[in-house]
Amino acid sequence: METTNKQDIQGKRLIEVDFPLKQTSLDSVHEKNVRHGHISTLHIWPARRPLAASRAALITTLLPDPGNDEERKIMMEKLAGRIVEHVKKKKLPNGSVEEQVTVETEGGILHWGRESGADLQWFRDKIREAYGGRAPRVLDPFAGGGAIPLEAMRLGCEVTAVDINPVAWFILKCTLEYPQRLANQLRPLPAFACESREFMESYFKAKGFKGAALEVQLSALGLKKEQVNQPQLTGIQTNVVSVEADLAWHVRAWGWWMLQRAKADLNRYYPTVDGKPTVAYLWARTVTCKNCRATVPLLKTRWLCKKENKRVVLTMEPNADRTGVVFGVQNDAPSLVKGSSAQKREYDKKLAGGTMSRSGVTCPCCSTIMTMEDIRSESVAGRTGTVVTAVVVDGDVGKEYRRPTEEELIMATEAEKDLSKVYAEIPFGMPVEPLPGKEALGFRVPLYGFDQWYKLFIPRQLLALGTFVKYTRAVREAMQKHWYSQEWIEAVSNYISCVIGKMLDYENTGTSWYTQNEQITHLFNRFALPIKWDFAEASPIGGASGSWDSMMNSVTKSVDTAVALPNKMIRPQILLKSAISSHLKNVDVMVTDPPYYDAIPYSDMMDFFYVWLRRTLKGLSPEIDAAFQEPLSPKWDHEQNDGELIDDSSRFGGDKQKSKANYEDGMARVFQTCYQSLNPDGRLVIVFAHKHPDAWETLVSALIRAGFVVDGSWPIQTEMGNRTRALSSAALASSVWLVCKKRPENARPGWDNLVLEEMQENIIQSLRNFWDAGIRGPDFVWAATGPALEAYSRHPIVRKANEPGKTMSVTEFLGHVRRMVADFVVGRVLTQNGGTDTVSGLDDVTTYYLLHRYNFGMESAPIGPCILYAVSCNLSDSLLLGKYDLLVRTGGQSKDEEEEIEEGSEGGGEGVEEAEGTSSTVKLKAWSQRKYAGLELAGMSTPLIDKVHRLMHLWRAGDQVKVDEYLDMHGLGYNTLFGQLLQALIELAAAGSEERALLESISNHVADRSGIQTNRLSWVD
Ligand SMILES: C[S@@+](CC[C@H](N)C(=O)[O-])C[C@H]1O[C@@H](n2cnc3c(N)ncnc32)[C@H](O)[C@@H]1O
Repeated sequence: METTNKQDIQGKRLIEVDFPLKQTSLDSVHEKNVRHGHISTLHIWPARRPLAASRAALITTLLPDPGNDEERKIMMEKLAGRIVEHVKKKKLPNGSVEEQVTVETEGGILHWGRESGADLQWFRDKIREAYGGRAPRVLDPFAGGGAIPLEAMRLGCEVTAVDINPVAWFILKCTLEYPQRLANQLRPLPAFACESREFMESYFKAKGFKGAALEVQLSALGLKKEQVNQPQLTGIQTNVVSVEADLAWHVRAWGWWMLQRAKADLNRYYPTVDGKPTVAYLWARTVTCKNCRATVPLLKTRWLCKKENKRVVLTMEPNADRTGVVFGVQNDAPSLVKGSSAQKREYDKKLAGGTMSRSGVTCPCCSTIMTMEDIRSESVAGRTGTVVTAVVVDGDVGKEYRRPTEEELIMATEAEKDLSKVYAEIPFGMPVEPLPGKEALGFRVPLYGFDQWYKLFIPRQLLALGTFVKYTRAVREAMQKHWYSQEWIEAVSNYISCVIGKMLDYENTGTSWYTQNEQITHLFNRFALPIKWDFAEASPIGGASGSWDSMMNSVTKSVDTAVALPNKMIRPQILLKSAISSHLKNVDVMVTDPPYYDAIPYSDMMDFFYVWLRRTLKGLSPEIDAAFQEPLSPKWDHEQNDGELIDDSSRFGGDKQKSKANYEDGMARVFQTCYQSLNPDGRLVIVFAHKHPDAWETLVSALIRAGFVVDGSWPIQTEMGNRTRALSSAALASSVWLVCKKRPENARPGWDNLVLEEMQENIIQSLRNFWDAGIRGPDFVWAATGPALEAYSRHPIVRKANEPGKTMSVTEFLGHVRRMVADFVVGRVLTQNGGTDTVSGLDDVTTYYLLHRYNFGMESAPIGPCILYAVSCNLSDSLLLGKYDLLVRTGGQSKDEEEEIEEGSEGGGEGVEEAEGTSSTVKLKAWSQRKYAGLELAGMSTPLIDKVHRLMHLWRAGDQVKVDEYLDMHGLGYNTLFGQLLQALIELAAAGSEERALLESISNHVADRSGIQTNRLSWVD
């Protein structure tokens, strides 16, 4: 009989004791680079968690801690392998060779491609064993793109994945359900595929056949080389040899079937000129000049290609009657050979600057400037137009650029005439559903009058999309004729709909031409909808990026990965529900990654796909029709007090406080639901972004109120850089995975003094362990937070012993924790790792300075960790930037500024990176810039670091009398902390720097003086 082995899962879990933090972070960040075959390439979904991090969190939560270092070490290595360093030699442009050290993991099952290593089965067995031979039940109530449930399935768990959004639900079916149901099945490829040499050649090549062996395979199907093979578009042939293939190949076959039909319909709209296939059409929006009435193209740049060895520029001159411009293409654009990089940049900007700048657009005919406000009102009034500026084609040696032909110009607009015919065959017709309003998070296009989803496309894109949607819908009927089961029809149709989703991401007016790698960029490289003045249109029936072929390739590679998942996975339960009201029972482990305040407006953004999926999938199954029955995906239902949990004040009439409170209340209700769903010995692991400590603390308070004890926290780095929407508003680069267990119902209130004592006793060993494991920086603070919180959250409330009737808040408690952690780090820094665990008596500002200097040196640092350090020292970033004059801002703008630049940047907008925006950064002010540091200010005690900086100024001025006066006035000669601080600063200063020399001189001087004074004192004695 299967029973739960209470012994095993009642004690601590592995994650509550140890976690392979560095390896998981390394493998998670690496995974973000994986472009082929990853589940994220199936369909866009925001904020996907890496599989590596999800797998590591699940395994360490499901498995008990073995209770001894040796076994734990073995488990960690099986899971995450070891970190190894590689030294690579890189030749620099100036000819010198530089050594670059890279670190990566070796072994383990976290790294992409190693997930099915032999040790996976070892973990699967261990997990079952821990649960008395049964599969543990795992729930993710905010499942999104499905990383966490997929990993739980891989580990042999019984999985429930919940998400409120129908697009996420659809992705979950594709990621979890169809692979589980059909992964191990093969069935004969349809006859039309077996009859096509082109298709079968790609099939056999993928199976590793080449040369003569390939020909043998093709001949066996009657597909000899000399045979001119026209694809059979109608009828079913039965006289061909059948080829058994898996799900991914059936998707490819039907995708190919569709493409032949779509090509037949669309070919004339994408004429091929001079036998060179079209890659993309480059467009610009236009306005009429308010002064001379000329048609003005809105161009951020006129660079078409800007590479080291290839420089192509779009030329632009006023036309003869100055009613507009004449474009041309200049190959081999000159470059500035000599000069600084700033001069080169300036030269390039002049050579190929666009018409747009921060101030607006400059008319090329009369030089009048129309402001952004002018452009906005023209756009809202529908008085803007579009023009094709250039065509990119595949030439003999790479991409070529040319002006469009007459025929191409006609065909670019001709498509409009056929739209009604195509959309008459599609349920719900054209996607006329409304776009969110201009107040919605991340949406800038409504400011320019874009108020319906279809308006984000030009007519030819709508025609192409409509045509592909029509044939996706036709696939199901054709498959029935080929005797596929309903299960196969649904799976194949849904994967093909993913291809439509991919195509949508490329076939819209929010894309750009990336001049550095000559490719079209996609819309959702960040989760915002800004306006694009000049955009690129891919040819969907060609073979370049953005085409059906390339999208099909990307989706089916992901299906290849899905069908290679382990055998014997348990069928998952996928629920389209709100986490607030998902009352499930007997859950063993929940690992989940909830929406975080205003970080990402999921449903508003993903309605971009919803409206098209609704049309593509209609009629496929009653379940799918029910999921997509509403015109748009669910937002917040005020009547039901339930819905999507994001902090978006536009849903609350612009009331920011109401919106924040609603989000926090909703999350609190979800935590209560989680508590009820979880088994008594269960664990909840919840992922939070952590930029704003106060917001974070509100969520932790809600967890504790819901009945959870927080007893672990691991800050896993999961993102590479600035690739999410407005990182400056909520950093998601790293996230904290918080481990919680249920508090016994009979837990009693605690007392603040006892709780703090217990916390200090518990945490000191953890701090030493984290330090010895090489965890540093903000991660060190976060790693300590969970274990520290255990002492606090073991009690439903913590009362203040000296203030009757008052309780200690999470914020107050964490204030103590962070200060203790800061003192620990500073203790290590002051003693150069000499072993002191904490240091007391150092003022807040100097503590901050040391923390910052130790972790970031004098370089720019992201604001997030700096805020964390500041609050750890009872300070704030604004105090450090202002009153204390310790920090200086080095980068980052407000969200609005970022987007205005997006809309009208000064000629720089030719790359993906440019679209990413920058996040806020700060750096320490150099001592030499702090001229007034250390001067007595009324009502302010002088931080020790300021005293050091004052002394440095005095010493440099050569004024020893003043130095001595200052030392004496502040009693610094006998101040041990001052001596330690000087020593630490010497270590931190760059060798050979003036800073170091001054500090050393002062240190020697102080030592000499104290020697003299000691003698004098002994003489007095
Ligand atoms: C951070 S994402 C999850 C991403 C996921 N872990 C992944 O790897 O793709 C948060 C998810 O919560 C969903 N969500 C928001 N409000 C919800 C609610 N009330 N109930 C269930 N899901 C909700 C969003 O649709 C979104 O998919």
